[in-house]
Amino acid sequence: MQENDLIYMDYSATTPTDERVIEAMLPFWRDGWGNPSSSHKYGQTAKMGLETARRSVAQLLGANPAEIVFTGSGSEADNLALRGAMLKARDTGRGNHLIISPIEHEAINHTAHQLADKMGFELTVLPVDQYGLVSSSDLQSAIRPETVLVSIMAANNEIGTQQPIFELGAVCHEHNVLFHTDAVQAAQYIDWDLANAPIDMLSLAPHKFYGPKGVGILYVRNDTPLISTMTGGGQENGQRAGTVNVPFAVGAAKAFELVMQDLETNNNKLQALRDSLISRLLQLFPADQVMLTGHPTQRMPHHASFAFKNIPGGDLVMHLDLLGIAASSGSACSSGNPIPSPVLQAIGLDDHWNAGGLRISLGKHSSISDIDRLIEQLPNALESLKQFSSVVYG
Ligand SMILES: Cc1ncc(COP(=O)(O)O)c(C=O)c1O
Repeated sequence: MQENDLIYMDYSATTPTDERVIEAMLPFWRDGWGNPSSSHKYGQTAKMGLETARRSVAQLLGANPAEIVFTGSGSEADNLALRGAMLKARDTGRGNHLIISPIEHEAINHTAHQLADKMGFELTVLPVDQYGLVSSSDLQSAIRPETVLVSIMAANNEIGTQQPIFELGAVCHEHNVLFHTDAVQAAQYIDWDLANAPIDMLSLAPHKFYGPKGVGILYVRNDTPLISTMTGGGQENGQRAGTVNVPFAVGAAKAFELVMQDLETNNNKLQALRDSLISRLLQLFPADQVMLTGHPTQRMPHHASFAFKNIPGGDLVMHLDLLGIAASSGSACSSGNPIPSPVLQAIGLDDHWNAGGLRISLGKHSSISDIDRLIEQLPNALESLKQFSSVVYG
């Protein structure tokens, strides 16, 4: 996507809201603004919009409408899954053990560590291999009688790797353990059939697929033991208190419908662009200076990620931005003081390689000319970064 000579290559961070999504939301601010819990006509109009949205999301996921909970973000959906399941298990004496991977998004990682550090739950963090994959045999060995929940992301935001979630979920179900997956990055690339999948809970964030920000979705399979962590009114089937944001729920459903309509075509188009980007970028530099991070094939079709030897990804992103290209890194960093990326550390990269990578994530407005421009400008960005570093740090 090129706007005023700027190129957007950060679709994994967020996406521009689709015009058709905005059109679908507008009536629920203008006319259907009632409280969907009210029994009068105003409320019923809003409720109709909300329930139509819920049915549509449920149908696309292969789920029942009662299994869809609208939340305020993907992070909130993750929080509800982990806290809700663990606190309920404590109530019922089911167990106190939770398993995650070391490359989960902070919404899972920080929540799991808070449950362990502040609330006395036991936490196991599984290893991953050089591509970021969790193995089902490691999972199998980590499960104990008191294990309540396993949460493994469907795909990683930083390195793009897609986990074998159906295989991992099956291991959990063999042991009567709940399985949650954070599908915030992966939702629009997979043809879901949750009624027949070993997945009990799944988190989505519509702003990753051309929907609005400020809304998330948690799928909760019927009869999954969960308590509401947002307490108050009985909205969302008692699972999430608070007057529901109807326009955002409607926008979330419309965005999901649009993106799932052309799933295969979208995936093929993105993958072709992405593969061309990867091969051209790797040819630009010597193999001892750059590497692809994440799995070479088992990764989201729009996602390419790289590590550059002794180059902090955050600084590179800043220099690309000066050249009109919006990309991202995986690591928090202040110039010259990079903090190693926990994800790159977890896949075994040493200090020469783990100071944050370069993530290029494509979307429906991306084109081959965007990639041409990146390939043309990347050496300039690296050159200006090296010059800047030698001026600042000698
Ligand atoms: C894998 C993953 N999980 C959760 C989140 C959080 O989603 P949200 O920004 O909607 O809270 C993100 C956001 O980037 C993500 O990439």
